Amino acid sequence: MKDLFEKIYKDKGPLGKWAAQAEGYFVFPKLEGEISNRMKFQGKEVITWSINDYLGLANHPEVRKVDAEAAAQYGSAYPMGARMMSGHTDLHEQLQNELAEFVHKEAAYLLNFGYQGMVSTVDALVSKDDIIVYDVDAHACIIDGVRLHHGKRFTYKHNDIESLEKNLERATKMAEQTGGGILVISEGVFGMRGEQGRLKEIVALKQKFNFRLFVDDAHGFGTLGKTGAGAGEEQGVQDDIDVYFATFAKSLASTGAFIAADQEIIDYLKYNLRSQMFAKSLQMQLVVGALKRLDMLRTMPELKQNLWKIVDALQSGLKDRGFDIGTTQSCVTPVYLNGSIPEAMALVRDLRENYGIFCSIVVYPVIPKGLILLRMIPTATHTLQDVAETLDAFDAIRERLENGTYKRMSAALIKAMGE
Ligand SMILES: Cc1ncc(COP(=O)(O)O)c(C=O)c1O
Repeated sequence: MKDLFEKIYKDKGPLGKWAAQAEGYFVFPKLEGEISNRMKFQGKEVITWSINDYLGLANHPEVRKVDAEAAAQYGSAYPMGARMMSGHTDLHEQLQNELAEFVHKEAAYLLNFGYQGMVSTVDALVSKDDIIVYDVDAHACIIDGVRLHHGKRFTYKHNDIESLEKNLERATKMAEQTGGGILVISEGVFGMRGEQGRLKEIVALKQKFNFRLFVDDAHGFGTLGKTGAGAGEEQGVQDDIDVYFATFAKSLASTGAFIAADQEIIDYLKYNLRSQMFAKSLQMQLVVGALKRLDMLRTMPELKQNLWKIVDALQSGLKDRGFDIGTTQSCVTPVYLNGSIPEAMALVRDLRENYGIFCSIVVYPVIPKGLILLRMIPTATHTLQDVAETLDAFDAIRERLENGTYKRMSAALIKAMGE
């Protein structure tokens, strides 16, 4: 009989196999210093384009003060126990009420982490006779939620309404046999490429098909819509989203998440979300901190205006210089270049070491072979000077990529990787 660990000793997995070349630099890098537009990487200052602190709240003095006071008052233990048993407080309820109001829903419920909350919400919304139809590019937490489902599931092509319609036809036929219903899941903003989910068109399909819509709006909450209520508000269909999800990990620069829906749906989820029923309550420091952040979202529209000033300058600057930024409709700013993985590594090293620019890099198998995706997250803490320096650096690295500099630099690396 095989030792269970045999496969682990042999195969580190699709990402783990790059650990020797990548760890500490391309993956698991350590950014140091205060969270802001400029931080330190390996002792050198870099302009950071890889942190989801959209509204610049992470290090805002008022936020830091409230966080520190809450930590002093409550410590990191309070309240002890799961919400249902002994971990419930007035402030948890207040935060839920304020979140619900902010995203224009009747009720909301807190989740300790977005990822596990999302998994549980998908799990709780469906029973084995129901059918899930979801975007093929869905975030891992949606996919994991779907994995728990004992019934049928269909994917539709990414943001492709024709494909969604075809799958809704299949799902409808199947649901008629099983006697179940249909749950459609999309993201409000797709975090890798920045497109908004086509919520308006998805909602229009409700005229033709009977389904409920669940939207993960991790990147839209706080950044899109007139009041910051997200992609649904931006597209004028917030009311038609049956269950809305957002995390505190991006615009609110914290930890935690929530779902919002009609009161009756939240009342049901409250008693059926396994990851919340059997896990410790969101700690008070995070609850108090989220109340403060939400208040700032409501009362300081300049935060979102500053963010969009930087987004517009970065995205229009890149486009004017002929860069391919794909089809983004949000703050997420991808830059697509052509090159191999070793070239991508040489390019990113050059960007960091010689131009002081830190952005995330995405390569095959996440995107097609031969493409390099540099993913940038503008925030309200960036300046127009940061944008100007970054655009100049991008011009320089594109030239080196095109004239073969990185190919030559990476020859040794290619050899080492046996490509
Ligand atoms: C689209 C999306 N959904 C869910 C999550 C998970 O949220 P959390 O970080 O709060 O676990 C993330 C990442 O933060 C995300 O990008």
